[in-house]
Amino acid sequence: MSDLRADISLLNFDGLNPRMLDQSPHRLGSVGVIGMGYVGLPTAVEFHRAGFEVIGMDVDAKRLAAIREGLVDSVSASPDELLDAVNGDGFFLTDEIARVAGADVVIVCVPTPIDSAMVPDTTSLKEACRQVVTHAREGQTIILTSTTFVGCTRSYLAGPLEDRGFRIGRDVFLAFCPERINPGNGTTGLDQVPRIVGGMTPECTAAAAAVVDRITPSLFPVSSPEAAEMAKLVENTFRAVNIALANEFADAARVLEIDTNEVLQAAASKPYGFMPFSPGAGVGGHCIPCDPHYLLWQLRSERVQSPVIDQAMAALASRPVKVVDRAIDLLGQNLRPIRGSRILLVGLAYKPGVEDVRESPALAVAALLRRRGAIISAFDPMVSRLVQDGNGDVIRNGNPPDPDDVDMAIAFTVHPGSDYEWLKRMPLVLDTTYRLDSSPQVVRL
Ligand SMILES: NC(=O)c1ccc[n+]([C@@H]2O[C@H](COP(=O)([O-])OP(=O)(O)OC[C@H]3O[C@@H](n4cnc5c(N)ncnc54)[C@H](O)[C@@H]3O)[C@@H](O)[C@H]2O)c1
Repeated sequence: MSDLRADISLLNFDGLNPRMLDQSPHRLGSVGVIGMGYVGLPTAVEFHRAGFEVIGMDVDAKRLAAIREGLVDSVSASPDELLDAVNGDGFFLTDEIARVAGADVVIVCVPTPIDSAMVPDTTSLKEACRQVVTHAREGQTIILTSTTFVGCTRSYLAGPLEDRGFRIGRDVFLAFCPERINPGNGTTGLDQVPRIVGGMTPECTAAAAAVVDRITPSLFPVSSPEAAEMAKLVENTFRAVNIALANEFADAARVLEIDTNEVLQAAASKPYGFMPFSPGAGVGGHCIPCDPHYLLWQLRSERVQSPVIDQAMAALASRPVKVVDRAIDLLGQNLRPIRGSRILLVGLAYKPGVEDVRESPALAVAALLRRRGAIISAFDPMVSRLVQDGNGDVIRNGNPPDPDDVDMAIAFTVHPGSDYEWLKRMPLVLDTTYRLDSSPQVVRL
């Protein structure tokens, strides 16, 4: 683990005292994690691994039961490690917030989605913060890790804690520390990625840093929760805008009859000032399609325009329509109408190596194709057998089909370690991954 004092002295931030760790009056011991989802569960496992007692709290009893049985996708542990941890000493799972009240540290890790109109839905976050405030006790360190709008830590936690009579930075310690977990990528786990920490006061930053330091390689303290909140939004907005740009270049390359990958790889040979992003069918998961909307929503209320981000998010949201248009076009070239065509979706998860289908472009494409009369089936070895499309209708996810039963396959996600040789026998493949080997029947988006 890193030496926070060394990190801070290198950063030379105003207001941060390199000796503040020594002055932090709180004590470590137990960590309560609220929200045991894709992020909260590995967070809890890491703290348990680091020697803390862990209380994992979630409102979803089914989720807790699945965790107890090891039937969940866990980013930082193998299924056996997960089972050993959650059923071992010092790890408690509960749906009662009061059980978290006694913990030295409380970490809030609940979802921050958007609704169907792309407006942030802060219901879970508000409720979790309300509960944390209700049960807060003196000496506790409270860390918000859910991605959110700028000022959220202050308005949902600091204000209400003060209303209860707590002095922030003296009685309780409060910070925002955004999560950077990257599911499906073995080299960017919790223990491999530096974390930003922004406390309400220097004492709060120190208290939170002392905790998070136990599970991260290094820390980057900032002067306020707002700076940390906005840093997280910048990170994911940067990604969203660049993916939209990569899509635009891919479309341009197709029109100009140039190989997209060759162009992107050539540009990426520049050792500075360029970072490669891959084009695709859109964006999925709980981060890129959602997080920039927290910023846009907030800026709208300030009457501030943000046209680049706005355009990028609109372009990403409409990418599935482009996939459908292209599919209809290709079927038409093969003298097949979309109505009645049998279309296989290859990969329902939003990216390789994960079972997460939230906001997956494949589901939006499925709903749009069905509206046009297509018959949809799917193959994704990581995802459950019944998945709902963007309209809520069920998609059957099964074994690789017979090529005679498919008019067109659309490849969205190709998982590492799975066999896709059968794809070569499909009559027509629309490749939205831009990664399939070229062949006469494989056509890129
Ligand atoms: N998934 C990612 O890759 C990722 C990466 C970085 C950051 N984040 C951020 O982390 C946060 C959590 O994301 P996630 O993917 O883990 O979400 P998730 O939906 O997988 O899990 C959240 C869990 O919180 C539970 N929950 C909801 N309301 C609750 C409440 N009031 N009290 C207790 N539990 C409650 C849900 O039942 C669910 O199990 C989000 O803000 C997200 O933007 C996610």
